[in-house]
Amino acid sequence: MTGGTRTTSGPALAIRVPGDKSVSQRALILAAIADGESCIQGLLRSADPLATGRALQALGVEIDALEGAATAPVRVRGTGLRSWRTPATPLDLANSGTGARLLAGALAAQPLSAILTGDASLVRRPMERIVAPLRRMGASVAYLDQHGRLPFRIRGGDLRAISHASPVASAQVKSAVLLAGVGAGTGAEVVEPRRSRDHTERMLSAMGVEVEEAGRDDGAWVVRVAPPPARLAPLETTVPGDFSSAAFFLAWAALTGARGLVVRAVGLSRTRTGLLDVLSRMGATVRVSAETSLGGEPAGDVRVEGQGGLRAVEVGGAEVPEMIDELPILAALAARAEGVTRITGAAELRVKESDRISALVDNLRRVGVEAEELPDGLEIEGTRRKLAGRVRCFGDHRIAMAFGVLGATQGCDIEVDDPAVADVSFPGFWRLLDQVGRTDGRPSPPECVVVAIDGTAGAGKSTTAKAVADQLGFRHLDSGAIYRAVALGLLDSGREMSALEKIAKAELDALQVHVEWRGRSMEVWAAGARIPNRKLRTERVSSLASRVSSVPTVRDHLLALQRSAAQGPGLIAEGRDMGTVVFPDAGVKVFLVADARERARRRLLQNGQAAPSSDRIEAEAARLRERDARDSSREAAPLAAASDAVRVDTTNLLPEDQVDEIVKLVERRRNRS
Ligand code: S3P
Repeated sequence: MTGGTRTTSGPALAIRVPGDKSVSQRALILAAIADGESCIQGLLRSADPLATGRALQALGVEIDALEGAATAPVRVRGTGLRSWRTPATPLDLANSGTGARLLAGALAAQPLSAILTGDASLVRRPMERIVAPLRRMGASVAYLDQHGRLPFRIRGGDLRAISHASPVASAQVKSAVLLAGVGAGTGAEVVEPRRSRDHTERMLSAMGVEVEEAGRDDGAWVVRVAPPPARLAPLETTVPGDFSSAAFFLAWAALTGARGLVVRAVGLSRTRTGLLDVLSRMGATVRVSAETSLGGEPAGDVRVEGQGGLRAVEVGGAEVPEMIDELPILAALAARAEGVTRITGAAELRVKESDRISALVDNLRRVGVEAEELPDGLEIEGTRRKLAGRVRCFGDHRIAMAFGVLGATQGCDIEVDDPAVADVSFPGFWRLLDQVGRTDGRPSPPECVVVAIDGTAGAGKSTTAKAVADQLGFRHLDSGAIYRAVALGLLDSGREMSALEKIAKAELDALQVHVEWRGRSMEVWAAGARIPNRKLRTERVSSLASRVSSVPTVRDHLLALQRSAAQGPGLIAEGRDMGTVVFPDAGVKVFLVADARERARRRLLQNGQAAPSSDRIEAEAARLRERDARDSSREAAPLAAASDAVRVDTTNLLPEDQVDEIVKLVERRRNRS
């Protein structure tokens, strides 16, 4: 999953995608049978989980902020294991296969009767795969229209534990059986031919249920849940970004050439990320960083760069369940890859939101790509020809988005007949694609190497930053001077300084602070005139600047201004939050520290005192320590080293050694790129 890496902040676009659909659905359903209130951050508010949430509300589960803003936490007041109430009307799961199948599993354990139904696409999808094992456990299910299809009535109650050998690798089947076993208090076992996504298992463990899993030599995967405790612990969880949504943008980056794109904080369960290996095999560079865990799921940032020209691939076997939802976007990639891409072992595609094998082949041909259906997959011959035409979504969000991405690349004129269907999993998809697309199409500018130098007051930032910039021929961004210019402007305007934290954006706009570059040197301007350095360095300005810089509105106001300095071959960005807030992707991050007494001594020398007495040094050191404490505890951009910053202790370093050390870091990074 790795490849050549770029080490500079570069022009890579960084985006985030909405919360994971599979995790969101499970979080809602499991929270609904937990004992007490669960809090879910980052829940996906797209059509599918909303349908599941509404169905749970109809079953008597109280859910706050279900339809709230994407950032609002959702609170679910779980009823405990078997306390849902009979719904007054049929539960309509709309387009959501996961919602319908997982809910059926959970309902099998409830002593009540409910009708499940869905939209035109969902009522065509196979349900016998979950109904058969649920009946074997003791639930009664009556199909109301066609055998094996929704709508059906499910009557739950006392169940027995089973071991279910699923003929398909399906997380929905596995989860339905596990949920029934947990809900009924019996436990259950599922054997699937290949391992499918494991979000249910992870979440059940987090709620106190014993889960055992093991692979078998024949590739099969066995999951067993023990009879659960009488009460499931409520969830306190954050949903990571949806890898399946990120995949569309990662593919876009691979298709559009060298420009990198990073998707931040995305779920990286190995049961989902098969596409990353496939992208590498196709010739794109893939890099995973900032690995962490979100809501019990592995997560991190994923960066993809196309290296000009993709190669065809063969995809099949165990890889298929790990990228089942990414096969539509793989087909779009294959349309532009050299050679014939062959996808096999993917008969499940025929029973997704549409028959994806036939939908993909039909649409590829419509736009001018040669493609053939196989019983369990498809073959696609990549081409460089112009691709044009109108594609049909068949009510399938992933078909719409896959062709949307292809259409957003050069040499394509593709119209999608039903773009709104993307809302099923990815509200805001078209807007994001448009934003990302607008940055493309131009040759990417040569990368500007950003070196962030942060550190405590008096650790030698300015002198070091200036000297490093001179030596490397880079710009030097003195962010402190910009905060001072704001302070000076406020002083000159006679503003009352008591309620600085309430400052309005309009007041800041009126100061017209901006920077101009004369070659590599920065000039600070305000209200149409250049501010001479000496005016920025007075005691009054300095002390107000320190207050002004702790006001969040001011920091936000100056963010774009500082970022715009990253042009030309390189930038030395000096300040207190350069590596953490202003340039989080900086290629080199340095955090300078030094003993407070040494910093005090340097300060006093700098201010013209030839041989400062030890008392004066101690008094100055105390002031510096106070400032450190203030800076690191303030709410807006507190002073802290970025986790990937190199700490340089300058207490015993000569100024020229500090410079040397940083220049060497930059050179080392450059040589690696
Ligand atoms: C899902 C499982 C997969 C996947 C679907 C979501 C889930 O379906 O295609 O988009 O959340 O469990 P299958 O279980 O049918 O493979």
